Amino acid sequence: MPVVIVDGKEIEVRAGERLNAIEVAARAGVQIPHYCWHPGLSVVASCRMCLIEMGTRDPQTGNVVMLPKLVPACNTLVRDGMVIVTNTEKVARARAMVEEDLLLRHPIDCPICDKAGECRLQDYHFQYGQGERRADIRPITSRKRDIGDLFLFVDRCIMCSRCVRFTREISGTSELMIVNRGTHEEIDVLPDVPLHNKLSGNVVDLCPVGALADKDFLYRQRVWYLRRKASVCGLCATGCSIWIEENQDRVHRIKPRENMFVNKWWICNDGRYGYPFIHHPSRIRGVVRRTTSGQAAIGWTDALREIEEKVRTAARPAMCLSPFLTNEEAYLAARWMRNMHPDSVIALGPVPREGEDERFPGGFVISAEKCPNRLGVEAIAYGLGNGVLGWSDFLEEVAAGRIDRVIVLAGYIKPWLDESQAETVRKANWVALADLFPSPLSGKVDLLLGMATYAEHEGSYVNRSHRLQWLQRAVRPPLGSRCVGMVFWELSGRTGVYQPRMVLAELAAELPYFSAAAGEIPDVGVDLRVNQLAPSTAETQASTA
Ligand code: SF4
Ligand code: SF4
Ligand code: FES
Repeated sequence: MPVVIVDGKEIEVRAGERLNAIEVAARAGVQIPHYCWHPGLSVVASCRMCLIEMGTRDPQTGNVVMLPKLVPACNTLVRDGMVIVTNTEKVARARAMVEEDLLLRHPIDCPICDKAGECRLQDYHFQYGQGERRADIRPITSRKRDIGDLFLFVDRCIMCSRCVRFTREISGTSELMIVNRGTHEEIDVLPDVPLHNKLSGNVVDLCPVGALADKDFLYRQRVWYLRRKASVCGLCATGCSIWIEENQDRVHRIKPRENMFVNKWWICNDGRYGYPFIHHPSRIRGVVRRTTSGQAAIGWTDALREIEEKVRTAARPAMCLSPFLTNEEAYLAARWMRNMHPDSVIALGPVPREGEDERFPGGFVISAEKCPNRLGVEAIAYGLGNGVLGWSDFLEEVAAGRIDRVIVLAGYIKPWLDESQAETVRKANWVALADLFPSPLSGKVDLLLGMATYAEHEGSYVNRSHRLQWLQRAVRPPLGSRCVGMVFWELSGRTGVYQPRMVLAELAAELPYFSAAAGEIPDVGVDLRVNQLAPSTAETQASTA
């Protein structure tokens, strides 16, 4: 196996692995500072922050011959016998000089810069910069330019060109470019071609300084007030890994979480900027019961009692599961329904689709299916028994009077049914609905339950590629609302707090499709197809539905 020596430590590299010196050093626990290099973009080696000493060890004699000049680590692919040295005086001086040079022209406006607290220029300056500043401190400037989806603070740019390469290589839209030469270089767009594409927000994450800023986050929060939770985007079937960043139960930012199996380093703008619905004032809160004079708020205990009684005494009740439920919610709800009433019907709610999948040159796909867990919910519905109905069959059954009581577990973010469909559902003599927002149905039901969004509960989703990922709860749901999992946990007579991990373990033991989720779920999720020697019925139905 090829061996590379990093600061005296031997690191084995797999044969055929293409790694640069930054990546190999990271394996040895050595950080090589860098600005322009990013593992998802082409290599330009322009910032020179990653300079190292490099040499070769003679395999026969063991003698090491070093190159006289420093080389950029990002542009140095490692090979057997390569010697990398990052801790010499020469390297330290080079880094300090790069830092000093960048700070000559950089406005020292950290107190107002959105990136303060997570800026590489700040961090590297303190780690590798000169002890003292030799140049004058230039006045604070903040030349802000609206370049389309984002703001550009021109003076803060360190010309790493990451943003430019992103629009050329990943989004394929090429809106950003470098204008002028030398110290007059600037990032810009053409007058009539602003930065505007579905992936544009990623350049804010890529920018190592505060030159590119999100319009919706600008000056909202200092980043050190934010706490982040590892989660999964709930807005389409791609199921990107994300960080949800919140302060005091309010989501302020969504950032991509690296997952090479799903979204690499990126997320789309729909997922990134789509979170305000979580705190929208029109969210359904608590529980409301229909009365002769309108609607009245009731407590959860009464609501659960009513649900239990109505299903137990029904002739043929139905439960409709939406593709927005977590696996644990769908499982608890469907299992409870089946146990309560052997003749009950499980139906699947409408699956929202918008146009076609959007594919980008860098490989990123925004799914046309605008829900996070169709595969998981379908597998559970089919796995738990007979009589699963699609949405239109379900409507037909209700219209024909063959279903008398209905529980609809919705959680849709956008309008999902029209007046006539709502009228049809209402033909059942008792209807309970759990949802996020008012709809044509919400004013007509007997019980209306406020439920939680993807940021407000724990659980798992299965994305379009059969990868199951875990969501952490980032914020609490609005006062009075509950996640569907809690409701059916309690109805099932389970005591203590709702434990989705325990439910997933049960699900993995019961349905072969979920068996790969039996143990710990890694941060990148598990592929549910890995240990399926033969496709189960549930899987076949789920993947071909
Ligand atoms: S705006 Fe940011 S990402 Fe773009 S070149 Fe400047 S520093 Fe780099
Ligand atoms: S691609 Fe889909 S899952 Fe990923 S961030 Fe966008 S909306 Fe969310
Ligand atoms: S990271 Fe290597 S030169 Fe910029």
